Amino acid sequence: MDLTGRVAVVTGSGRGLGLAYAKALAAAGASVVVNDVDQAAVDAAVAEIPGAVGVAAAVGDTESAERLVAAAVEAFGRLDVLITNAGILRDRVLWKMTDDDFDAVVRVHLRGTFTCARAAAIRMRAQGTGGRLILIASPAGQRGNFGQTNYAAAKAGIAAMARTWALELARSEITVNAVVPIAATEMTKTIPAFAPVIEEAERTGQPYPAWLRRDEGLGTVDDVTGLITFLASDASKGITGQAIGIGGDKLALWSHPAEKQVAFRDGGWSASDIAASWDFPAETYGIPAPRVPS
Ligand SMILES: NC(=O)c1ccc[n+]([C@@H]2O[C@H](COP(=O)([O-])OP(=O)(O)OC[C@H]3O[C@@H](n4cnc5c(N)ncnc54)[C@H](O)[C@@H]3O)[C@@H](O)[C@H]2O)c1
Repeated sequence: MDLTGRVAVVTGSGRGLGLAYAKALAAAGASVVVNDVDQAAVDAAVAEIPGAVGVAAAVGDTESAERLVAAAVEAFGRLDVLITNAGILRDRVLWKMTDDDFDAVVRVHLRGTFTCARAAAIRMRAQGTGGRLILIASPAGQRGNFGQTNYAAAKAGIAAMARTWALELARSEITVNAVVPIAATEMTKTIPAFAPVIEEAERTGQPYPAWLRRDEGLGTVDDVTGLITFLASDASKGITGQAIGIGGDKLALWSHPAEKQVAFRDGGWSASDIAASWDFPAETYGIPAPRVPS
């Protein structure tokens, strides 16, 4: 897929998934702005990616977002694609989570996505030639996850912003989609069920086992890049407002929240009316525990 002439900003692209996205977009011909909070990671990525420019900045505030868009325009004359990927974890159960844990995660993921997307949308609307906002969400935001109050809330908010901005930017032909990736990175190595398998594969150079790639949808960072390149390209024209999962051997379209079962009662519902007629089946929630073969 040819992205020649396209200009992309990838936040948090000093390592992990973001670095893989930046490399894949550059390999498809795009000009790339690399960003990370870590200057050394930015320098290393720029050295690795032909033609890339780097901006070391902490995503979250408006100034960083505007610097990223300005860097794309200064270096390459325009901006066509934004990937909001920068992220951190501060996992704790609700009753141990501090204000700082909550604010730090919401700042990078939710506020960082908002400020970067706003700056990019202003530029793309002014250019008048459409664009692509690719927002990185997470299974935790889709389902909820133990120990991830801050992260699940931020990622659910990101999926909601994708739906909202898809509506707002449709006339400008700027598509907005949420990607729900799963891949072996420093982040997933913190999940106890996956850590030994990932470390074993890294040590031996063997591919990840089929159960991990297919049943858990977890593979390498490079397994995620095909979707990113597709969404950045003309081939994804008209695809907007969606949450799309990718990882290992699996590609998935997530449903949008919808009323699943409804009931009506003339005059409305008192508490005892609800108690008397409640027959709604409970839905499952939370990320299912990994099924590690014994
Ligand atoms: N790895 C997975 O399976 C998985 C699953 C779901 C979602 N995600 C999401 O994908 C994204 C990338 O995850 P990853 O696994 O590659 O993580 P990672 O920790 O390997 O990489 C994240 C990068 O973001 C950078 N970063 C952190 N705060 C920043 C800030 N304020 N400004 C700029 N850069 C910042 C870090 O320095 C790091 O280079 C995150 O948004 C994460 O939530 C990952």
